[in-house]
Formats: sequence, C-alpha cells, structure tokens
Amino acid sequence: MFFCKECGNESVKWQGQCSFCKAWNSLAEVKEQKQKSQGKKGTVGALHSLGDIEKDDNNNERIQTKSSELNNVLGGGIVEGSVVLLSGEPGIGKSTLTLQFGSWVEESIIYVSGEETQSQIHERAIRLGVKNDQLSILGESSIENILETLKAHPSKVVIIDSISVMRSDTITGASGSISQVRYITELLVDFAKTTNTTIFIIGHITKDGNLAGPKTLEHMVDTVLFFEGDKYDNLRILRALKNRFGATSEIAIFKMLENGLQDLKNPGLEFINSHETQSIGSSLSITMEGTRPIVVETESLTNYTKFGYPKRSTRGVSSSKLDLIVAVLGKYTKIKLESSDVYSNISRGLKIDEPGIDLSLCASIISSKLNKVIPKDMIFIGEISLTGNIRNIMHLEQRLKEAAKMGFKTVVIPKNSLQGKYDIEIKHVSSIKNLVDLLQ
Ligand code: TYD
Ligand code: MG
Repeated sequence: MFFCKECGNESVKWQGQCSFCKAWNSLAEVKEQKQKSQGKKGTVGALHSLGDIEKDDNNNERIQTKSSELNNVLGGGIVEGSVVLLSGEPGIGKSTLTLQFGSWVEESIIYVSGEETQSQIHERAIRLGVKNDQLSILGESSIENILETLKAHPSKVVIIDSISVMRSDTITGASGSISQVRYITELLVDFAKTTNTTIFIIGHITKDGNLAGPKTLEHMVDTVLFFEGDKYDNLRILRALKNRFGATSEIAIFKMLENGLQDLKNPGLEFINSHETQSIGSSLSITMEGTRPIVVETESLTNYTKFGYPKRSTRGVSSSKLDLIVAVLGKYTKIKLESSDVYSNISRGLKIDEPGIDLSLCASIISSKLNKVIPKDMIFIGEISLTGNIRNIMHLEQRLKEAAKMGFKTVVIPKNSLQGKYDIEIKHVSSIKNLVDLLQ
C-alpha cells in the first residue's frame, strides 16, 4: 500500500501525484505490518443482553463541571476516559474555554500547549481568574514526550492545544498534515482508553469550515464539539456534532467577557441587535436550539443591481434557503427581485438551519424591498414551501409560549395551527401572498 504524506489518502499503486489532494511526490509505501495468517479460525465472542449493556453504559462516570452549559452540551458532564475533539475558527475561544476548565473542574488537569508559551498561558489563566493548583501547564509539541510526561504524572483531564502543531517523530510529514494528525490522534485515543484519562483535542478549522486534518478524525473520537459565533461579537455557541454519550441537539451558550466565558442559560433577547430601534429589513422569530426556544433576528437588504447578475449573500442561513424564498416571492407575489441584490443575515453570529425562521427571513426581505418597518413587538414563525404555502413547524407551542413570556404583542403563524391559548395576538397566514398583504 502507498499513502499520501499530505492527506493520508491510500493508493494501491505508486503515483507521482496524489489523486486526492494533488500533491506531488507525496506518496510513501507502507508495509503491511501484521502478517495475515491464512486460514486462521475466528473465536467465539461473548453475547450480552441489552439489559447488561444498558447497565454498562450507565456506568460511564461523569465529571460534573461548574458550567451547567458545558455539562449540558456533553450530555450531563465530562465522561471519564472519553476523547473530545473541540474545533472552531482560530480566535473563537477554544483555548479560553479549555483553560477555564481550571475553574470549572475540580480534578487534576494537564494543559498541553504547543501554540503558546507557558508564561503566555499563565498570564491568561490569571486574567481568567483560574486559581487551581490542580491545573498544570506543559509547553510541548512532541507527542512522544507528551505521552511520557502524562504517564509520569497521571491526571484526570488532558487538553491538547492544538492537534495541528503536535508532531510525531515516528511518522513523516509536517505538523498538521493529515498523516501526522491521524497518527497522533490514534495515540491519544489509545492513551485515553487504557488510562481512563479524558482528553480534549483542540483542532482549528479552515475557512471553508472543514477541520484542519481529515474528516476521519471525527470518527476516531467519542465526541465532536464545535465552537461558533461572530468573533467580533461576544456570544458563543458550543454544539455537539457527534456524541457517543449523549444527544447532539443540545447546545451550550456563553458570553465572552473580559474575564472569560460565562454561562448564558436564559438568552432572552440577547440574540437580537436592538429591541428599541425599529429598522427596515429586520424581523424577529423564535428558533429552537435543543429544548430551548431562542428569540432571533433576521435581517435583509435588497438593493437595485447595478450591473449584470444580481448578488445573493447570506450569513447564518444557507444560500439555498435565500434562493428559494426569493424564487417563491417572485412566482407568487408582486415582490420581484430578479434585478435586486439580496443580502440576508441572522444577527449576532447565530447559525440556523431549521425551517421555523423562513417566514421571518421572508418578512425581512419584504420589509427591505417595500421600505416598510416591521414592528419590533411582532414575531414570525413558519416554514415556506415551494408552493408558496406556509407550513406548520415543530415545537410551535413552545415557541409561542416563549413569545408571550418575552412580552411580544403579535405572532404570525401558519393557518390551522394553534389558536389563542397564550396571552398574545395571533395572526394566521396560509400563503406567502398573505404575508405580503399583511406587511404592506
Ligand atoms: P482564544 O481562546 O485564544 O481562541 P482560540 O484558542 O480558539 O484561537 O480566544 C481569543 C479571543 O478571545 C481573543 O480575541 C480575545 C478573547 N478573549 C476575551 O474576550 N476575554 C478573555 O478573557 C480571553 C482570555 C480572551
Ligand atoms: Mg488557541
């Protein structure tokens, strides 16, 4: 077998160029290490009843941290002996979050940094108010040295900051290359499982949203957490993209302050830009994040296209969702946008892919196109279908309840959905045309 030193792609024959990542002269031969003995018989495995397995699974010891948001996203605390990949853009707060474990976790922690010097980390720890004699810092990037140190100083939690700067002398390729990243992760997973140490591996993502390193890394670890938000704003969301020990629907919400991250259990109106000023092109909705309803703001700008092809741009929602809404508006209403640029955002760095905010996104586009302000005490909840109808969505009742609780006056929802049960005025719309009529 040959494999590429740059991307880890495997190939049965040697080639001058890797067929996957197109790097030149990167293929190296690996000899199959284990001689396969021919005709060897398998052995009989032990069977377990579902009851036994359930008992076993509930036996996962968990470390409860002082951050209930972190506990929540992990499915009820840090599972001992698990390997967690923490990824996110550079500068989003991965080092800050993990260093704060020093305040949140009452166990021995070793923070291994190959990115910053010990004194830089120490300085930051002081700024974060981390006063924990159980937190030790190791400035090291050789995985062989790291593992020896960890064996000599057993601890409950280990943080590797970050996987892309760690290297192994056993394997060729530069730090951060896929073969290095994969091999080092393998060693760390093995160490975690044999010593019951929890390891958090920090990984940077590239601009296109991929983990720097192979996607295969995600299969090697128990849990993948993704840290997101607008770097220039202070709200942060930690999502579980994969979790062998819990659901992936829950998120953790934090606020980045001068002294680090703080739990934000009830975001209330935090995710909207300004509740006081009413602006053209803005409308509000309520989305669901796990079991939590969150008030969000959709913003849109439509503008005459000066030359050529109209521009469509989104942040926080998919561009295909914007394309669909523009197309449906054009087909079923008088809002024609074929010669308009359209920009759409979700405020404050939130990313949403559930359909409950469609109606609000559409309302913000209509508002911008018609130059009409939408009252800020109005909420829009519903999905827009290709036929121009407004569809019912999941958890409508919970969203309505939240809208009433937050003091909104009117909520616009699909027809045939809930009737007035909460202390809020309900307006029904059955089609996108109804929505345009309502807003003009
Ligand atoms: P950092 O944890 O270094 O990001 P990452 O490890 O993901 O690259 O976070 C860096 C940013 O966080 C930096 O721009 C400053 C900000 N920050 C605060 O706002 N408050 C704080 O207490 C700290 C430590 C950082
Ligand atoms: Mg960092």
